[in-house]
Amino acid sequence: MRYIVKDRYGRPVNSIRISVTERCNLRCFYCHREGENYSHNSEMTPKEMERILKIARMLDIRKVKFTGGEPLMRDDIVEIVRRASRLMDKDVSMTTNGTMLKKYASLLKNAGLMRVNISLDTLDREKYRKITGLNYLQDVIDSIYEAVKLFYPVKLNFVLLKGINDDEIEKMIKFSADTGAILQVIELEVPVEKENLSFFQKYHLSPKFIEEHLEKIAEEIRYNELHHRKKFIFNFSGKRAEVEIVRPMHNSEFCMNCTRIRLTSDGKLKPCLFRNDNLVDILTPLREGANDDELLSLFKEAIMRREPYWK
Ligand code: 5AD
Ligand code: SF4
Repeated sequence: MRYIVKDRYGRPVNSIRISVTERCNLRCFYCHREGENYSHNSEMTPKEMERILKIARMLDIRKVKFTGGEPLMRDDIVEIVRRASRLMDKDVSMTTNGTMLKKYASLLKNAGLMRVNISLDTLDREKYRKITGLNYLQDVIDSIYEAVKLFYPVKLNFVLLKGINDDEIEKMIKFSADTGAILQVIELEVPVEKENLSFFQKYHLSPKFIEEHLEKIAEEIRYNELHHRKKFIFNFSGKRAEVEIVRPMHNSEFCMNCTRIRLTSDGKLKPCLFRNDNLVDILTPLREGANDDELLSLFKEAIMRREPYWK
C-alpha cells in the first residue's frame, strides 16, 4: 500500500536527499556539509540505503538526490545508484564537485542516474584553489563537458560569495551557453547563529541584484512551477544559456514549498538542513532488526517533525 503523508504545515514530502558520505576531497571554506556538524564512521551500505528507500517508496517518495560530502568518494557509488534507481522512478540525481565525475559519468548513467548538479563557483584557477583548497578546476571543466553528453539537465551550482565570485556572473552565463549546462546561482546558506554572524556578513550577498539585472537583459523569462523559481534565458550567437536563482535565506516561500527530507550519512532522517535537534535515527533500528512497520513509523515521525525554518 502506498500513501502520502503531509507534515503539520500541509507540505507533502516527495523527495529524499541522501548524504552517502561526509568525506570530500575538497575543502570549500563555506561548505555547510549538508548540515552535518559531527564526524562518525558509520556510513550506510548500499543495501541499507535500499531498505530505507523501500520504506520511503511506501510513502510515495519517488525522487532521490545523492549528496555528500562528495558522493564519488565512495567506491560503491555505482551500486548505490543502481539499487536506488529501481525504486525511485521519478528522479535519480546527484550533486557532485565534479573532480572525479569524468570517469564515472557513463557508469552512473548506466546504473540509472538521470541528471547531475556540479559545483562550480569560479572559472579562475587561482580563485578555485582559494575556495576549495585544491587545484582541480580543469578536471571539473572536463567533467562538465562529459556530463552534458550523457545527462539532461546538467546544472552548475554556483554559490555567490561576496568579494570572491560576484564579478563572474557574465562569464558563467557564457560558459553555460558554451556547455549547455544550466547555471544555478545559489545564495550562501549559513545558519544565523551568533558564531556565524561575522562569516555571514563577510561573504553573504543576496542574489536579488542579479535577479533584477537579469530581468532587464534576459531574452526570455520563464517561471518554474515545480521549484517556484524564475528561469532566465539567453542567446549567445545561437547557443542557449539558462540561469536560475536560488534564494533560500529568510525566504518563507522557499520553506513553504520544501518537499524534501534528508538522510544523513550516518542514517538519521533530517527534517531540515539548518537543524540538528530533531533528527530521527533510522539506521540503528534497521541494524537491530526492525521490521518495515517500525521503520515506516520512524519515517512518519521525521515527517511530522518537519517545520519551515523561515516562517
Ligand atoms: N551555502 C550554499 N550552498 C552550499 N553548498 C555547500 N555549502 C553551502 C553553503 N554554505 C552547496 C555547494 C554544492 C552543494 C553540495 O552544496 O555548492 O554544490
Ligand atoms: Fe563541501 Fe561540496 Fe566543497 Fe566538498 S566540494 S567541500 S562537499 S561544497
